Formats: sequence, structure tokens, C-alpha cells
Amino acid sequence: MKSEIHWMPARIAAVRELTPTVREFLIRPDSGVASDHEPGAHLQVQVLAGGRMQTRSYSLVGEPDGQAWRIAVKRLDDGRGGSLAMWKLAVGDRILVSEPQSHFSLDLNAPAYLVVAGGIGITPLVFMARRLAALAQRSGASVRMLYGARSRDELAYLAELQEVLGDRLVTHEGSAPIDFAGEIARLPAGAQVYTCGPVPMLEAVKQAWSSSARPLADLRFETFGSSGRLPTKSFRVKVPRHSLEIEVPANATLLEALEAAGVQTLWDCRRGECGLCAMDVTALEGEIDHRDVFLSEHEKKGNSRICACVSRAVGTLTIDSAYRPD
Ligand code: FES
Repeated sequence: MKSEIHWMPARIAAVRELTPTVREFLIRPDSGVASDHEPGAHLQVQVLAGGRMQTRSYSLVGEPDGQAWRIAVKRLDDGRGGSLAMWKLAVGDRILVSEPQSHFSLDLNAPAYLVVAGGIGITPLVFMARRLAALAQRSGASVRMLYGARSRDELAYLAELQEVLGDRLVTHEGSAPIDFAGEIARLPAGAQVYTCGPVPMLEAVKQAWSSSARPLADLRFETFGSSGRLPTKSFRVKVPRHSLEIEVPANATLLEALEAAGVQTLWDCRRGECGLCAMDVTALEGEIDHRDVFLSEHEKKGNSRICACVSRAVGTLTIDSAYRPD
């Protein structure tokens, strides 16, 4: 449980195609933009998906202009329906949004920065790239960005980033693995890494970072928890503590399905990052598709816990909810 979000009415002020699967939305709140946001901040947005209002998080792209907020949404045809609902929005449509929030802040005191973006994970990093380029000019800090996507036409904001970073931007197209260990080995002591992208890419960066024995706090990442290994389908979940057996539909998370069934849950980020929603798995007939970045690889392989806000299963899962009223 977490305190209620203050929802504000807003209007879609502009829509722009960035790539064949990424669309940008300019959102103007009716009450105006009260304060500037920091790099890494995101908005919560209410969208009508699967016949009910659902909440989605989208990173704010670029610097604040005091007028409107900019987000970019990748269309996921086999997702939970939020991106398809966003793609239906046109200029003038009304939506509800939160104030900007941030769990992914930028520290400007390091001597060097490596920024790693995968696909739509570029969105929070566009503003960070601008801030870091300005810092590099001011203080001489070293900045390098690696930006990968399936194909060149899926590199959203490429021209803007090239202008800001010049040859400090290195792009990767296709599925060839990036040598994160080599990139990290070249960084001086005290360097920081900021990364956002699909879970397999984040896991690869995390793995290379831990092998380098650098301080864990200097690796900062964000995910959207939507890029699983398996297609998003319905699955069954049993909760013996509540004598409950329910179906988690394809357009809802395990956490949402439990809440709808009246099970009290603990949560915070709802993005697979904080681990507060992690529940014990007591039996599994099928497979878990871990989509969080909180559990370790070892824990994921053991399948003894699941982050209910983003991870899913194929088959039937038996869990014990983490919430204890006493
Ligand atoms: S609520 Fe943070 S990982 Fe699920």
C-alpha cells in the first residue's frame, strides 16, 4: 500500500511519430506545470485498457519548459494494453496524470559517466545526456553513451542526442551483445553508470558491474518491467492463506489481480525495482517469467519469490502474500 496519487486533468497538446513503434505525446496539465522536474523523473498516467482505468509510468523526456510534459510510448502489441490505449490518444483528448516523481536521480559529482540505453529505455536518459554534456563542458567530466535498438530506425531521439553528445554517443543496432565488461573496465575509479532498457540488457550491465567489484551504489538503473521472456498471457494463482484461486488476465498484473480479489498487498514502485511487492512462491506448475530487476539471478532461478507488480507466470502459481496485518 502507498499513499494516494493526486491525479490532475490534462490534455494531449501534440503527438509525434518518433519511430515506427514509438510515439511522443506532449501533455499539458489544466492547472499548468507547477515546478521543474529533474532528469530521470516520470509521470503516472491513467489509461483505459481492458475496459478499466489502469495506471502506467512513463519517463519524462527532455528538459522542463514550464508549459507541458513530454513522454514517449512504445507500442507493445503483446503487452497488457496500456501502450495500445496510449496510441489511441489524439490531440485534444483528456487524460489524468500525476505530478512528476523520481526514483532515478542523477548525481553530478562523479568524474566519469557511462550511460546505457536500450530501446525505449532512452526516454529518461535524453535529459540526463543534456545535463551530463553541460557538466562535461563545465568540469571536464567524461561522458559516454551507448544506445542500442533492434534497427537504426528504432533509435528515437537520435538526432537530438547526436547534437548534444557528438562522438560521445555510440549506437548499436541489432542483437549482437555489447561488451559491457570492456566498457566498464575503461572507466576511472568513482565513475557512475546510468542505464535503462529491457530486463536482459539491465541484467547484463548489472552482471558486468558486479564482476568489476565497483560500488553497487554507482550503478543506477530503471526499467519498465514490461519486457518478459514469455508472451503476456493469463495464468492461475492460488493463495492458500486466503483460500483463493484466481485467474490473472493478460491485461492485469498479478498485483492488480490480487488487489481486485481483496488481498492486501505491499508495494511501492510498481515497476519491478524496489522489491516491496515480492511474495513467496510455495508451488509452481509451469514457469515464472521474472520481469523485475530487484531479485538476483540466483533468486530468479530458484523461483522461490516473485515480484507481483511486473512478473508473471505460465501455468499455475501458488503464493503466500507478504502482507501481514499483525
Ligand atoms: S512494487 Fe516495487 S518491485 Fe514491485
